[in-house]
Amino acid sequence: MGARPDTAAPLGPEPPKLCGYCPRLGALRDANQIKAPSWFNGAVPSFGNAGARLLIVGLAPGLKGANRTGRPFTGDYAGELLYATLLEFGFASGRYEARIDDSLQLVDCMITNAVRCVPPENKPTPAEITTCRRYLTARIAQMPNLKAIVALGRVAHDSTLSALECRKSSFPFAHAARHALPSKVVLFDSFHCSRYNTNTRRLTPEMFQAVFAAVRDVVPSQQPSRRA
Ligand code: URA
Repeated sequence: MGARPDTAAPLGPEPPKLCGYCPRLGALRDANQIKAPSWFNGAVPSFGNAGARLLIVGLAPGLKGANRTGRPFTGDYAGELLYATLLEFGFASGRYEARIDDSLQLVDCMITNAVRCVPPENKPTPAEITTCRRYLTARIAQMPNLKAIVALGRVAHDSTLSALECRKSSFPFAHAARHALPSKVVLFDSFHCSRYNTNTRRLTPEMFQAVFAAVRDVVPSQQPSRRA
């Protein structure tokens, strides 16, 4: 298991790969490293540019997806809809091929997770979410141009509000909700684009696209219009 981070050191927005704060997640990482040594098996760093105006917050890496590839949502079922939608709305360019060395690049967008290490059964404990929030807080603080955050699911929503010291009761989670936060950042909520939610049609591609269409009101495209 990774060494416990030096608590006196200034905290950056990205954990060390073998972050040592959560014993249960560290033990799972170690076990995965023995079973699948070619996988990433570490705290998955945020993807994209810190100068971006949009931050997307997911839940946690999937075992055989982001935990394997080392890039959020990459190789995860949830990444199929997420990256297709980002490409459609101009928040990504290139081609998503579910591997870290594909040609996909994020445009004015960054993706992170509320919890950076893969949790057993995809379920981080409340203590793990709270512990990992120090990285989410630092991540948000170090995005000087941030205008909008998309929270994928309730855990991401709640953790983002806590990171920004906002009361949950003032900004309740609801799919397609848009919350103007005191920090001037707009928080958009979406159901998580997980296999369960898309297979049950709790979240359809159209519902997900509508969230990003609304985000474009707050983060207009800086690409020249293709219209004559
Ligand atoms: N993969 C991620 O990186 N995050 C999620 O929330 C789901 C899958």
